[in-house]
Amino acid sequence: MATIGIDIDVAKAILEQGNLVAIPTETVYGLAGNAFDVDAVAKIFKTKNRPTFDPLIVHVDSFERLSEFTEKLPDKAVQLTNVFWPGPLTILLKKKAVISDLVTAGLETVAVRMPRHELTRQLLKELDFPLAAPSANPFGYISPTTAEHVQRQLGGKIEYILDGGDCGVGVESTIVSFEDELPKVLRLGGISVEEIEQVIGKVEVNSHSSSQPQAPGMLKSHYAPKKKIIVIDDLDLETEDLSTYGFLGFNKHDQRFKLENQILLSESENLNEAAKNLFGSLRTLDQNPHINFIVVSFVPEKGLGRAINDRLRRATAK
Ligand code: TXA
Ligand code: MG
Repeated sequence: MATIGIDIDVAKAILEQGNLVAIPTETVYGLAGNAFDVDAVAKIFKTKNRPTFDPLIVHVDSFERLSEFTEKLPDKAVQLTNVFWPGPLTILLKKKAVISDLVTAGLETVAVRMPRHELTRQLLKELDFPLAAPSANPFGYISPTTAEHVQRQLGGKIEYILDGGDCGVGVESTIVSFEDELPKVLRLGGISVEEIEQVIGKVEVNSHSSSQPQAPGMLKSHYAPKKKIIVIDDLDLETEDLSTYGFLGFNKHDQRFKLENQILLSESENLNEAAKNLFGSLRTLDQNPHINFIVVSFVPEKGLGRAINDRLRRATAK
């Protein structure tokens, strides 16, 4: 099992040896390695069992570091990063040669973000290289939002988990591309579309492409628990025996399910709180031995609700 701790020097030493450390961010935990070291990057893919066609996000703590491996930011990217960095925003930029094709799956762009979590910011400051880090879960499963989640799934494969507590945002970063300077949201996430549009005006949202995904993490089936997930509207509530069904609701219980099989994302209808609770709640239901199926209901389609519904849809797609 991995050691769980808060020692930045230990994390630094492991990363400098070309090995991996799980790191906290405000969105979800990441599985980090030296982005400039192709062997370390290869370990990330292997440890997650992730196909190499799915590129990684590179994490930085400063614009100086960023300019070492990316070309100039488009104007709208400057505007967005001024407002949302550090924070749950990832942007795609033209890469320089120092970033290997393994990081970007052969694409000419590299995904980058400046995370807000204090512990990881301190770690990045201590390092001479940026950190490539996908979410620290086996490929296709729910992303981890606590050190314990990481331990359960990857603890046998890594040495150290930097423990930054519960992730405050709870869903992954919003990914924005700027092909021909035109901003496009490729993945809904911790910064809402409304917030982005307040800064740069109307943007295209293109997060449902599944046949030829531009962001392969946009694959239709993703973030999936092991148990079958059913949207409440698709359930024949009259005929089925619901005693072994779990229910993930937004703000209200549903009396057709056993009370102890239900989790609410936010009784006060707060979408930020709901996002923070989403992945942990799905895990809890997935691990409950008295539950065979998980029924979910969508939340209001606004703010972080869009990212939550997006993850729920992907979790139901098989
Ligand atoms: O919040 C987050 O973004 C977390 C934390 C750890 O930073 N990371 C994360 O990474 O969610 P990951 O690997 O689980 O998701 C990264 C997504 C994938 O869907 C990938 O396809 C997409 O980013 N991506 C990366 N580079 C890309 C590129 N050059 N073009 C298009 N999509 C890209
Ligand atoms: Mg992921």
